[in-house]
Amino acid sequence: MAHESTYQPQAGIEKWMDDRLPVMRLVHDSFVDFPTPKNLNYWYTFGGILTFCLVAQIATGITLAMHYVANDTMAFASVEHIMRDVNFGWLIRYSHAVGASMFFLAVYLHMFRGMYYGSYKAPREVLWILGCIIFLLMMATGFMGYVLPWGQMSFWGATVITSLFGAIPIIGDPIQQWMLGGFAVGNPALNRFFSLHYLLPFVIFGMVVLHVWALHVPGNNNPTGIDAKGPQDTVPFHPYYTVKDAFGLVIFMLIFAGFVFFAPNALGHPDNYIPANNLVTPAHIVPEWYLLPFYAILRSITFDFGIPFTDIIFIKAKFLGVIAMFASIGVLFVLPWLDTSKVRSMRYRPIMRFFFLIIFLPACVGLGWVGAETPAKVLYQQGEFTYYADYFEGEELTTLTYDTAEERDHAVESLVAVGTEVEIRDGTPFQFQMVHLGLILTIVYFAYFIIIMPLVGIIETPRPMPASIAESVLPRSSASAAAAE
Ligand code: HEM
Repeated sequence: MAHESTYQPQAGIEKWMDDRLPVMRLVHDSFVDFPTPKNLNYWYTFGGILTFCLVAQIATGITLAMHYVANDTMAFASVEHIMRDVNFGWLIRYSHAVGASMFFLAVYLHMFRGMYYGSYKAPREVLWILGCIIFLLMMATGFMGYVLPWGQMSFWGATVITSLFGAIPIIGDPIQQWMLGGFAVGNPALNRFFSLHYLLPFVIFGMVVLHVWALHVPGNNNPTGIDAKGPQDTVPFHPYYTVKDAFGLVIFMLIFAGFVFFAPNALGHPDNYIPANNLVTPAHIVPEWYLLPFYAILRSITFDFGIPFTDIIFIKAKFLGVIAMFASIGVLFVLPWLDTSKVRSMRYRPIMRFFFLIIFLPACVGLGWVGAETPAKVLYQQGEFTYYADYFEGEELTTLTYDTAEERDHAVESLVAVGTEVEIRDGTPFQFQMVHLGLILTIVYFAYFIIIMPLVGIIETPRPMPASIAESVLPRSSASAAAAE
């Protein structure tokens, strides 16, 4: 909430500085005396936790870069050197690798919190959009960081993702080659990925400064979604939320340390401990867990877009998948304009809360599961595969049925040997595969934003809301007494 400055410079040096560059005034007004709704819960500690994650990633990353060698013949060995020879190199590397996962865990909770409490709605649209830009930059940074150890998953992950650009019609191939600095992922790509992986966190840092600025103009939203109307609804940021944020951060750091010290590789893929080899493709190429839902959306489109029953194709399946993947992030940018409800918080929107908690969140988790599995994995099958051989015995058509293609082919061989003309055909059972589940969940994901959100916003009758933030946290009588003061 923009408010009058309450900063009073004490020592002479503070007064001197305040007349020249009032940074202390900025810090005081933003993080000490900033009026903050008194009802913020622990979901609101993730902004501070994310700031910690960003700083921790930059600090550990800079230290790693002092020992890492961005060259395709040395990258893998330099990471092993960090793990074995550099003092506490293992700790720095594991903190950075686990840190990436913790950063994404925190950002997903931060985003879902924003969606639940309607924090993207006016007047916080710019704040939300800056968040979406940060999220995109985080995904690019995470992806490029994963390429650096130059293991099998690094190399093949980079190959799959950069090939997506090749799916763009006409200009795709030149773009892909320009990006890679060659025809395939190799040393030039590794070098530029390292350069960008070092740069982007600082761009993210700049975006976070804008994000917090855009937060401090309208002030925090809160679990009720009701605007703060006066001092009775707020408390100063310090000490109330510095202490609450610090407590949340300590719990987060305990979980973080649990992973670093007891399960540092739990969230990674074992294949990345095999040096990159462009002649051996891993059986199963998967990105890091935090990119899996988007990977699932990308792979769920297996059909071309064109005129049915003709050969006319407008968009090929692969490019359609790429469009769907980018659209799944793009739709977040326009969220403030898709939500037609007058009420911000889902606390008072039972229908929307149902769709969010019971439909949307499980669909996101489901997409993550689909992304981790092979698309052809069978989830449900009705009937069995059957293999037929048809031939005429005189005038009469005879059909032989087998359980395996081998048995059938064996029988056909002996029939053909005695001069019989045989036709073979296969009976395929109905199969529901991972890729089908992926398509359904992709449709649910988009429907949530494009159909459910605008529609429910119009038709839903919200539950009764408290008159003010103060009333939501205090018994009614004390709230009116506080308001009267
Ligand atoms: C490096 C990543 C990020 C950092 C450091 C960061 C930092 C913060 C901080 C410190 C706050 C205030 C405290 C809080 O509400 O938790 C905040 C609020 C907010 N952030 Fe972020 N953020 C990040 C990413 C994102 C992303 C990816 C989004 C959404 C796409 C987002 C959307 C929001 C919204 C809507 C609020 C206001 C919440 C409210 O007042 O109810 N942020 N952020």
